[in-house]
Amino acid sequence: MQTEVVILAAGQGSRMKSSLPKVLHEVAGKSMLGHVIEASNAIGATNTHIVIGHGAEKVREAFNNEVNWVTQKEQLGTGHAVAQTLDSLEQESKVLILYGDVPLIKQETLDNLMSHVSDSVMSLLTVELDDPTGYGRIVRDGNGFVTAIIEQKDASTEQLMIREINTGIMALTANRLREWLPKLSNANAQGEYYLTDIIAMAASEQVEIAVAHPTCEQEVQGVNNRIQLSELERWYQLDVAQNLMTEGATLADPARIDVRGSLQVGKDVFIDVGCVFEGKVVIEDNVSIGPYSVIKNSVIKAGSQIASHSLLDDAIVGEECSIGPFARLRPGTELCDKAKVGNFVETKKAIVGKGSKINHLSYIGDANLGENVNVGAGTITCNYDGVNKFKTSIGNDVFVGSNSSIVAPVTISDGATIGAGSTITKEVEGSHLAIGRAKQRNISSWKRPEKIS
Ligand code: UD1
Ligand code: MG
Repeated sequence: MQTEVVILAAGQGSRMKSSLPKVLHEVAGKSMLGHVIEASNAIGATNTHIVIGHGAEKVREAFNNEVNWVTQKEQLGTGHAVAQTLDSLEQESKVLILYGDVPLIKQETLDNLMSHVSDSVMSLLTVELDDPTGYGRIVRDGNGFVTAIIEQKDASTEQLMIREINTGIMALTANRLREWLPKLSNANAQGEYYLTDIIAMAASEQVEIAVAHPTCEQEVQGVNNRIQLSELERWYQLDVAQNLMTEGATLADPARIDVRGSLQVGKDVFIDVGCVFEGKVVIEDNVSIGPYSVIKNSVIKAGSQIASHSLLDDAIVGEECSIGPFARLRPGTELCDKAKVGNFVETKKAIVGKGSKINHLSYIGDANLGENVNVGAGTITCNYDGVNKFKTSIGNDVFVGSNSSIVAPVTISDGATIGAGSTITKEVEGSHLAIGRAKQRNISSWKRPEKIS
């Protein structure tokens, strides 16, 4: 039987105090609903139905995934919400119910839950909590079989003592949903159609209720306010940090790293405090990253050193390069092995050849640099005339004196030297010296001005 997933996301989330719908708030740089959709894809769901209500338009617009959006006009309860998807469900399928505000559920937990489901078995994910306040309680009979879920507001004093709670996540066949959902009533303390009432129906029809547990509490933790959001964020980040350390990275402080995407590390990588990684980042063996660096969609090859406060975005750094502190590598930067980019240097769409150095205070954009080029402090590639962008091409072994402006389009060939302070507008041939600056005049009769009293 194929698997379908229903994600409930129609609630208002008023405690977030936000104009953004709750499920669009982010954990690790991805919306909570985005995490849940990813979980749905991970277990191989053929269809994902998402029930939306409050902020429906905004939620729908935030995704271009192939999902079935189902609108629940009035929020009449979780049972009513799932019922809105009945017309969309396949004739024969296993249906998993997830929540848009429970973002960190793990694939292994869901695979386990789904493995039991048939028309004669439904699955329920429960957990024991020290403080079960607010949750639906799992009621079991004398033999330990689950017989019902009782919501907090409907529970007797005795039932309130039960510490095993309903995470809300469950799985059953579409057949059973079609049979049971129409029978739900709203005659309860909250006047809602409770999805949880199908548990008693299952028990009375001798449908087995297979109970599974998550690997940890946080997996099934829902988010109602920004404090809970931040708690999940920290837990997620610590989990990521522990995985990185297992892979062979030393973290100066596992509590002070943020990974918003995927970070792959080699052996003996060192990451100092306060670094942020976004998108897909690959760091090879023996790389060291200084404090407060932000690295996005980049590859850093073996043995390279990134000093503090460096920003890399869509960059490829070769082996044994040296970057920063305070370097900014913008999209399209490609450093070959042993290249150096120092402090207050910005690069964009720049290929920097093997062993070349741009050590201080430069802007190198739309440029190709050969091997062993030395770019002096304060050198700028003037790549933009206010309308169009142009390329600078610099050959091997070129020496660019400090404070030069290289006005593109222009080519400087192998072995050329540019005198400091030059404005280069014309091609420089190989091994030539180019000087483009006003000649120095020394005035011997010069007298310094005197203070006017
Ligand atoms: C629900 C469960 C409770 C469980 C708890 C776990 C029911 C009746 N109770 O309670 O047993 O312990 O979750 O957190 O199911 N939603 C809709 N449409 C609605 C109502 C809710 O889409 O009409 C969505 C909400 O956006 C939310 C989820 O369903 O994502 C759960 O709803 P919520 O009101 O938080 O249910 P609880 O009372 O917490
Ligand atoms: Mg809730």
